[in-house]
Amino acid sequence: MHFTLQQLKLFVSVAKNSSYTRAAKELNLSQPAVSIQIKRLEQQIGLALFEQVGKTIFTTTAGKTVYQASEEILDKVAQLKNSIKELKGEVKGLLQLSVVSTSKYFMPHLLGSFLQQYPDVEPKMKFTNRARVVERLTNNEDDFVVMGQIPNAQGFEAHPFLENILVMVAPPTHPLANKNNISLEELSKERFLERELGSGTRLVFDRMLEERGLKVEPYMELGSSEAIKQGVMAGLGLAVLSLHSLHLEREAGKIVLLDVAGFPVKRRWYVVHRKGKKLSLAARTFLDYILQDSHKILTTS
Ligand code: PGA
Repeated sequence: MHFTLQQLKLFVSVAKNSSYTRAAKELNLSQPAVSIQIKRLEQQIGLALFEQVGKTIFTTTAGKTVYQASEEILDKVAQLKNSIKELKGEVKGLLQLSVVSTSKYFMPHLLGSFLQQYPDVEPKMKFTNRARVVERLTNNEDDFVVMGQIPNAQGFEAHPFLENILVMVAPPTHPLANKNNISLEELSKERFLERELGSGTRLVFDRMLEERGLKVEPYMELGSSEAIKQGVMAGLGLAVLSLHSLHLEREAGKIVLLDVAGFPVKRRWYVVHRKGKKLSLAARTFLDYILQDSHKILTTS
């Protein structure tokens, strides 16, 4: 059954006025437009809502039930509109965030879309590596932070949202590019381009190697995933990167994923803040927005 709020509104007006003409006037519409919409509503419901006796129209039994429900629905919608207005009115002011550098591939999109709804929020978003984000979190310098590898220490609240998939990448011409099920042992003889110490991405790979009793000396340490991608495309070495960062290069066929045992590593992204922290309304609203809408926004951006 499909009907619109507008149809319910028209129906209530006709019932109240006992007249199509007066309802049309009240709602600034033509009389035929009102009649058509009421007919459609009756078709959807499958029952007559009005009965005409001479020149007067009366609501039928079904009409009375629909009338009561419509009033309740329209009332609830009006209340909802008010609450939304109230919320929008108050969601403003400073929003101070630190996010790990890898999240630069999605956090600006989430923030941009959020600000379209809440233009009075003044965002400050610091992009830095995981170690620095943890430091800022401990010192309570932000409303909240976004990171992939949350600290072990107690006292933090972490809300997971998107998936963070870490992959091993190479240029398409690399001899291992077409090989299946490459072992980490075999791979550890290769040259690696790694993020700086303090990076969350680096931490994941280092821990993985450590668990296998393997050690890899980075061939080069580069401070950003953008620099690492250029290095990989230039044939300088292999690298572990987040799938979020590889969209364009993969599409252009400049970088390929290697089939390595233990990869891809599936992690999550988290919004983290200190336990018991009283978030501002702007921060709380953005946090809810991230948790509820990040998937939707990123698939359409
Ligand atoms: P990074 O952090 O950008 O410092 O590598 C990524 C993460 O926390 O997973």
